[in-house]
Amino acid sequence: MNNTLAAANALKAGKLVAFPTETVYGLGADAQNESAVARIYETKGRPADHPLIVHIASKEQVKDWASKVPDYASALATAYWPGPMTLILERSELAKDFVTGNQDSVGLRVPNHPVALELLNEFVKLGGKGIAAPSANRFGKVSPTTAKAVSEELGNFLEPGDLILDGGFSEVGIESTIIDCRGANPKILRPGSITVEMIEKATKLILDESESNLRVSGALENHYAPKARVVLDQPATVGDGFIAMSNVETPQGVIRLASPANLDEYARVLYQSLREADEQSLKRVVVWQPTGNGIAIAIRDRLRRASNES
Ligand code: TXA
Ligand code: MG
Repeated sequence: MNNTLAAANALKAGKLVAFPTETVYGLGADAQNESAVARIYETKGRPADHPLIVHIASKEQVKDWASKVPDYASALATAYWPGPMTLILERSELAKDFVTGNQDSVGLRVPNHPVALELLNEFVKLGGKGIAAPSANRFGKVSPTTAKAVSEELGNFLEPGDLILDGGFSEVGIESTIIDCRGANPKILRPGSITVEMIEKATKLILDESESNLRVSGALENHYAPKARVVLDQPATVGDGFIAMSNVETPQGVIRLASPANLDEYARVLYQSLREADEQSLKRVVVWQPTGNGIAIAIRDRLRRASNES
């Protein structure tokens, strides 16, 4: 039996399976199994009223979970799935309160990673409808981008029969763009590598920029934080960790944690670099934020929360 088939069987039996996606690793459970989903919350130490994303194998499964799909949401799904994008839609009967955190909406995503897609397809063959999965970190901590990081975060909290699938390094490195598709116009709830320009291009609509009152835990302040204190755009001093673009020189006595050459690389290495700071027991990490639009907006969003500066 291959890994993903064994993992799909484990999910069907109510176990948890951590799996790779192109954004970050997820901690999955059968989205129809209430006690399995409850274990996700326990394992993460996450409050029970935070909704989970339901991962599906293809856009054909949207109609199982959503009761209403506006044309622009279909256009987004066609353009960017499988991919780093989560759509918030009005939920169907299948999306119970225990997955949606009592909200009338559901978050759906088709991830673009061969292991995740194989797992989802095996799960469908066994009669499964979707895999509920938050990022595979303890609540408030940095999302894992490798299987090793998952086992360091959650290893002590998993039970016999739970599995961690190894699919290498997550290519994108930061969580999916979350788009609320319930209004007349799409609205970004969490920025990611699917950018404003990409959304407007696929939908031919202008984004709704009004404030949202939806509960998005990734939108809480003090999230994505390592143990080390994250300080933004300050001079680094001796003993500090340091993250900046590759054209910035490393100050004397400072521990360089990452030197990304471009924005995509910045996103890809960010969380691993913050983990590295904790592995080296650093007290402080100085981060020089990237400038510009596109994915730089998402990187700055995560950095602001990691540093708890609003
Ligand atoms: O890239 C990602 O999105 C990763 C991978 C594993 O797919 N998942 C992820 O899950 O980041 P999580 O739970 O750490 O963050 C998902 C966010 C949460 O902040 C949650 O509140 C929000 O999605 N969310 C999920 N369903 C929602 C809903 N119905 N309404 C509003 N927000 C929702
Ligand atoms: Mg998360």
